[in-house]
Amino acid sequence: QNIRPLVLGNWKMHGSLAGNGQLLSAIRSAWNQSSGAAACDVGVCVPFPYLSQTESALTDSDIAWGAQDISVHAQGAYTGEVAGPMLAEFGCRYVLVGHSERRAMHGETSELVAAKAQAALAVGITPVVCVGETLAERDAGRTLDVIAEQLAPVLALGSQAVGAMVLAYEPVWAIGTGKTASPEQAQEVHAAIRARLAQAGSPGVRVLYGGSVKAANAASLFAMQDIDGGLIGGAALQAEEFLRIAEAGA
Ligand code: G3H
Repeated sequence: QNIRPLVLGNWKMHGSLAGNGQLLSAIRSAWNQSSGAAACDVGVCVPFPYLSQTESALTDSDIAWGAQDISVHAQGAYTGEVAGPMLAEFGCRYVLVGHSERRAMHGETSELVAAKAQAALAVGITPVVCVGETLAERDAGRTLDVIAEQLAPVLALGSQAVGAMVLAYEPVWAIGTGKTASPEQAQEVHAAIRARLAQAGSPGVRVLYGGSVKAANAASLFAMQDIDGGLIGGAALQAEEFLRIAEAGA
C-alpha cells in the first residue's frame, strides 16, 4: 500500500512574530523550489496567536498549517479554550490532539482526546492523534498495551472517522531528550498500530513517528515499512534542519 508521507512540525510554545516570519519565509521558499513537495506533505502546527501570521505567510504554498489543541465544544462559556470553527476560519488543515505533554500536564484522558478528534473532524480539520508510552511503561513491558488503551476510544469513533485522521506514535521518553527510538523499536509499535487500524477498517491512515527526529536520523526512520513521516518538535524550529527532514520524507 502506497501511503503519502507527512512531515509535520510542532512548534510547541515557541516563537515570536519576527522569528516566525523568517522561519516561515525560509521554509516556504525552499520547499516550493524543492521537488520533495510532489512526494511528501509538509505542515507546521503553531501556537494559536500565530495562526493568522502563519496563514498569511503560507497561503498558496505547498506547506499546510494547523494548531496544537482544540476544544471539544463548538462555542460557549469555556474561558481559554479555542473552538474548531475558529481554527477552520484560519485555514487550519491539521490539529494535534492528545500530545503527551497535554496528557501529562493537562490531565487529558484518551476519551477526551477522542472527543477532540471528533470536534476537529466536524469542521473538516484533520486531527493528528498522538499516542506513546512512558519509559516506566516500556520498562514494564507494557508498551503495546498502553498504545492499545490510548487508541481504543479513538478507534471506537468508527472507520469513516478514523480514515480521516493521522496518528502519531511518540514514545514519551524520546520527546525532547535527544534519545530517538531505533527504527526497529519504532517499527514494532507502528506495525501494531497498523494492525489495529486494519482491524478498524482503515489500514491506509498515516502513522507518523515523533521523538527527537533530526535530519541525521529521519531517513532511517522513514524507511521503515509502517512509518509514514514524522512529527517534529525541536528540529522544526530550524529552517534548514526541518527542510532536510522533509526531504527525507519525500
Ligand atoms: O510533537 C513533537 C514531539 O513531541 C517531538 O518533539 O522532536 O523535540 O523530540 P522533539
